[in-house]
Amino acid sequence: MPIALVGMPGSGKSTIGRLLARRCDFEFFDSDAVIEKAEGYSVRELFERLGEERFRELEALTIDRLTALPNRVISTGGGVVISSSNRDILKTRCHCIYLRSTPEELFRRLKNDRKRPLLQVRDPLEALKQLFLIRDPLYTATANSIVETGHPSVSSLVNTISLQLNKIGLGPKRHLA
Ligand code: S3P
Repeated sequence: MPIALVGMPGSGKSTIGRLLARRCDFEFFDSDAVIEKAEGYSVRELFERLGEERFRELEALTIDRLTALPNRVISTGGGVVISSSNRDILKTRCHCIYLRSTPEELFRRLKNDRKRPLLQVRDPLEALKQLFLIRDPLYTATANSIVETGHPSVSSLVNTISLQLNKIGLGPKRHLA
């Protein structure tokens, strides 16, 4: 079964996903990076050139493809849970982990970000609060487990997750500490 990470932009899905995959000896895929490579444009350019709707179609196709094989960690784009069919796919095919962060924490990490099209607005904190309100229940409904990203370091979050995975027989085959 693949492992999928969901959560708001800036919650650490790509960083944690990459380290977790290394720890588990799994392949790592970042769905946004897969789309960017296939299309030849950054996510921001895709939003500008094709619009969000077409980006969401590409995202759904990519999630469907990436979740078809086991032994991999997939970090998803923050908006993946907007679509009920993406939520179903993630829930039924994957062990899905929600990296949960507050809008304030996300804002601290993302205030200088220029890559995320939905945050290039006058008040990005307000945008994060609005997105969080809508999406927090969707991430929660999609995930098998929730990991609060609050204070722990990246490496201790990876430890926590790999211990949880071990308990259900999905974790690293050997312990690298
Ligand atoms: C989006 C999040 C982004 C990316 C796109 C849309 C969103 O991914 O998929 O900009 O709707 O929140 P990250 O969560 O990696 O920033």
